[in-house]
Amino acid sequence: MNISLQSKTVKPLKALILAGGFGTRLRPISCTRPKSLFPIVNKPLLQWTFERLAKNNITEAILAVNHQTEVYIKQHRIPKCELHIRYSRDPLRKPLGTGGPIKKAEKLISHDNPFLVLNGDIFADVNYTEVLNIHKEGKAVATIALHRAEDPSRYGVAELAEDNRIKRFIEKPARGTAPTNLINAGVYVLSPKILDYIPNGKTVSLEREIFPKLADKGTLYGYAFEGLWMDIGKPEEYLQLNKILLDSFTNKRKLRSRARTEVKNPVAFDKGVSIGEKSFIGPYAVLGRDIVVGNNVHIRDSVIFPGVTVGDSSSINGAIIGEGAIIGRGVKIEKGCIIGDYAKIKDNVSLAENISVCPAKEVSESALTPKCIY
Ligand code: GTP
Repeated sequence: MNISLQSKTVKPLKALILAGGFGTRLRPISCTRPKSLFPIVNKPLLQWTFERLAKNNITEAILAVNHQTEVYIKQHRIPKCELHIRYSRDPLRKPLGTGGPIKKAEKLISHDNPFLVLNGDIFADVNYTEVLNIHKEGKAVATIALHRAEDPSRYGVAELAEDNRIKRFIEKPARGTAPTNLINAGVYVLSPKILDYIPNGKTVSLEREIFPKLADKGTLYGYAFEGLWMDIGKPEEYLQLNKILLDSFTNKRKLRSRARTEVKNPVAFDKGVSIGEKSFIGPYAVLGRDIVVGNNVHIRDSVIFPGVTVGDSSSINGAIIGEGAIIGRGVKIEKGCIIGDYAKIKDNVSLAENISVCPAKEVSESALTPKCIY
């Protein structure tokens, strides 16, 4: 048992998961499911998060959502890992950003203890106890878990002093101007005092409006960690996270070969997947539940959501295929394509790189330049 999280004098840490964003960069798949429900190697991201919270002895999680997200999450019936789950809703037609939902959840957050806040779209191998320890040492209002990034300009960047205090926090600095490569990993320990900084009922950005202020006051701290960290905000990052996890599983996985089908590891197949003859699957193919793949099909570097059908002699390379999509015979789907849920790609259609197809759309003509078909 983790003493610092579970001792009798200190109440267990509560976690608030920010899960009410619109995931615009993951459209069109995010039109029909929130980012937190995107499958990561066949398990919803939120389930990975619940499992990590439970492993860190956290017993209560508050989901900061909008009405639609709440419906989707409840429909999914994700195993709760013995966590007590509560929902805090943004007002109708008023997304509160990354800061507003924390104020909105005020009544559910304890007022005499720090609490954990997680972005719902990240996969982060962070030890929450260590972030909490830094937080307590420095008497901080907020402590941010920090990770190193090759290109920090896409994130919030922290300049860290020797005592773990963040001297400066700059959200998305212009390329080449970031003072360090330590970026905001989307995992925070916050003191209840943070609630004094967030106005009621307003849309507030924690990263742009609150963190820079705290850095100026000397009450923002950082905890740099080395483990795995990925943000799934963009399609290529989503595919990359699946790849990294597939790689980490390879040692435990034996090469699976089916009759006259070639499977090149690493791959992941969920229950009920059926594959025809002379097909080549992998490397880096994730096939969700109840997928039916025909004969002579090639699938690699792709994530295929549950219930998809792929016709004979088709190929899918570097794409994301949404739930229940029907891919005809002789179809070619290239790198960067995103096919929305229940879309239908007719026989012999070719989709060149970076083409998106909206949910339930029927496509009967090939497309050769990047665009969104709606
Ligand atoms: P993009 O539209 O692609 O930028 O995605 P996003 O806005 O969903 O994600 P972003 O990376 O900007 O947000 C970080 C986290 O905060 C994500 O887990 C979002 O779900 C969450 N979030 C963003 N905006 C809101 C909001 O208005 N309300 C709530 N409750 N959560 C939010």
